[in-house]
Amino acid sequence: MENKYKDKIIKTETFKCMLCHNAACTKACPNGFDPARFIRSIRFENKDGAYDMADAQICATCNAPCENSCIHYDGKIRIKDIITSLDAKKIDTSDVDLGIDFAGIHCINPFFLSSSVVASTYEMCAKALDMGWGGIVFKTFGYYIPDEVSPRFSTLEKEDNPFVGFKNLEQTSTHSLEENLSILKRLKENYPDRIIGASIMGENEEEWTSLAKLSEEAGVDIIECNFSCPQMAKNGMGSDVGQNIDLVSRYVKATKAGCSIPVLAKMTPNIGNMELPALASISSGADGIAAINTVKSITGVDLYSFESYPTVAGKTSISGYSGKAVKPIALRFITDMKKNETLKNYPISGIGGIETWQDALEFMALGCENIQVTTAVMQYGYRIIEDMISGAKIYLKKMGYKSISEVVGKALDQIVSADHLDRSTVEFPVIDKEKCIKCGRCYLSCYDGGHQAIDFSDDGPKIIGKNCVGCHLCRLVCPVDAINKSKRIKKVGR
Ligand SMILES: Cc1cc2nc3c(=O)[nH]c(=O)nc-3n(C[C@H](O)[C@H](O)[C@H](O)COP(=O)(O)O)c2cc1C
Repeated sequence: MENKYKDKIIKTETFKCMLCHNAACTKACPNGFDPARFIRSIRFENKDGAYDMADAQICATCNAPCENSCIHYDGKIRIKDIITSLDAKKIDTSDVDLGIDFAGIHCINPFFLSSSVVASTYEMCAKALDMGWGGIVFKTFGYYIPDEVSPRFSTLEKEDNPFVGFKNLEQTSTHSLEENLSILKRLKENYPDRIIGASIMGENEEEWTSLAKLSEEAGVDIIECNFSCPQMAKNGMGSDVGQNIDLVSRYVKATKAGCSIPVLAKMTPNIGNMELPALASISSGADGIAAINTVKSITGVDLYSFESYPTVAGKTSISGYSGKAVKPIALRFITDMKKNETLKNYPISGIGGIETWQDALEFMALGCENIQVTTAVMQYGYRIIEDMISGAKIYLKKMGYKSISEVVGKALDQIVSADHLDRSTVEFPVIDKEKCIKCGRCYLSCYDGGHQAIDFSDDGPKIIGKNCVGCHLCRLVCPVDAINKSKRIKKVGR
């Protein structure tokens, strides 16, 4: 593909791919390659990891039955083009180990399933652990057995992306306490090298103590206190607790009284200052924090029926939002806690919108030793672990890190309060005339949403230096990445 928009085309094509199960393209490959996995690796930000799935030289001479068998409803994915034009390198990661200690426990890798439907039966957890997940935090359980609604999910779409964010109305496990405990016991017996976590939720101190005791007896490695489900149908549970420092404190103490294994307190983001419940947890004996649970939300309103989503016999409730859209909110809370003089010394498991190895390592760079995932697994399946592991290993190798723990906290010093940012210099946008297609999107955004600093004519956009403040809105809206940054220079008059 001799094309100056090559990277853009590859990105668009891989996003167009439907990521089929048992993909026809792979079945059709006469050379035994795995084009589906190849595309998926690129899609999940693991370009170098894709390298091993196909051989560009062999593919170049092939008549591409992979493409012909593609079942996309609107044109075949350009698999051959992508394979033969990808700039990637083979990187040997055989000596890279993703092992890391978290809350005093050694994990073969930091990538866990978070407590939810994705970790709610023996078979599901076993499949995930077989595929490489380092551990699971099992679906929250307790003495209370909820009665769930149908349907219970809704999504926020943006342009052609069906799943920017995800709303759910689920509460805790609908299985009996005995059944959940026996699943946990079997999991620990059959996966001794993996971390098995129990997420518990009581209604009073006696229940928290008892659930902790029973979980430890079942053999789990760690307990997570669910102080954060925002859609419990009963008062005084879930995020009602996480917003109440006194209850958090009492229930952590009650949990610790029932067990001797590490206890994490899982925080709700439905609060302005997460440090307060996190500090209350730690001072009451919690060994670490997990954050975040879901964000209270309404995803939209149907203007013809005036029902909101998901519509349960015409009605809905405010309930938890998760997935890619909440990642920035989660990273903010993690940063707040890791900048806190006390909390920075305690382990945090980062959760919220993690889909790729990059997402995961961003949480780690802000101080998490562990990460957990739900929504991306619901959308794409447990298989996303393949590119998380491969991508993380390749990154570590490229950066020359010996251990993934070297990444932990690396980005924290570069987050400062607004009064500490450099306000004396500026970076100006620079238009790449070769790449610009003269669509005028930069002009429109700069005029209507910026500083009227772009002129537009038949020759394309031109920056008006005296008006430009270097906000970079133009660069962000450019559909072909044709706007770059200048060097930082002193502001006029400084
Ligand atoms: C369908 C669904 C069920 C969930 N159930 C639980 C639960 O039982 N206990 C819990 O602590 N969190 C639960 N969560 C929250 C997730 O564990 C996680 O904290 C949140 O979804 C953010 O991560 P994500 O963006 O990777 O999904 C649930 C989330 C979803 C989407």
